Amino acid sequence: MQALIEAVHTVDNSRYAKCVENSKRMRFDIDRDVIRGRTFDFTQKFLPDGLSKADQMGFLSEPERRLLSQIQGRSYANIFGLVERFIAAKVLEVSRDHWLGDQTALEALVRFGAEELKHQELFRRIERMVAAGMPEGYTFLPEPNAVAMAVLGKSTWAVLALICHIELFVLAHYRESIDRDPSLSELWKDVFLHHWREESQHAILDELEWARENARVTPEQRDRAVNELIELVAAIDAILQDQSTADADYFMRICGRTFDHNHAEQIRAGVLQAYRWQYIVSGVQGRFGEILGRYVTPGQHERIGKALAPIMG
Ligand SMILES: [Fe+2]
Ligand SMILES: [Fe+2]
Repeated sequence: MQALIEAVHTVDNSRYAKCVENSKRMRFDIDRDVIRGRTFDFTQKFLPDGLSKADQMGFLSEPERRLLSQIQGRSYANIFGLVERFIAAKVLEVSRDHWLGDQTALEALVRFGAEELKHQELFRRIERMVAAGMPEGYTFLPEPNAVAMAVLGKSTWAVLALICHIELFVLAHYRESIDRDPSLSELWKDVFLHHWREESQHAILDELEWARENARVTPEQRDRAVNELIELVAAIDAILQDQSTADADYFMRICGRTFDHNHAEQIRAGVLQAYRWQYIVSGVQGRFGEILGRYVTPGQHERIGKALAPIMG
């Protein structure tokens, strides 16, 4: 048993060490590597169709779909800035367990926290730059500290599950949609290329920390944490419902024509569906689902499935 514990520890230590090594190699500077004195090209899309689902609204013209992808791309950057507030705080909190232990693990988590602080600054810059090229009237509704306070009030198991989910879908979005679309604004694409490179380490560290927490909790604590994870997903969905309505209404105000009731409702429903796809559904599939499946009982799995069913549509 002792040999097994030591073997697991060695494997984990080498994974933390690899994250430190990659973090040093992928490290970017906001101005020197990402922005490079450029501004956004508003003749190009921001968010690809695979995420914005704008191509599914056949009644919109090409320029209208492009505008919708730019508004969604603006909120996409703002939502990452928002979640990174609680991610950075949680990562610094769990780093406490390594303070006087594995110093490589500690370095990996400190770098992770510092990168999230930098990403928040990057996304604040992006918001100001996009705002300069768009008409007045856009609003980003959720407040990062209020959301962070609510999230951080849940148990560590539930919060690490949520963070692991988010950081895995960040990787999937870049690989499967953003990287593959040649028609996006070059600057917008570069922002998410550099973000993806640093996030690749975060997703590995999330798995390691969540595994550590999962081994520590009792079955009763895990059962309560499953309920908290369901509450967190419901809270995210409430944010997405508000923001998708705000973004759809902003789009209709600035796009230069009026829509009848039927089309207006289709736009609101289409943006909500896209946001649910981006921030919930696309993350539940794949690697996150596999890990979760290993940690929860069939009964807990069913509980999560039932809660997600209305969102999965
Ligand atoms: Fe990030
Ligand atoms: Fe991250």
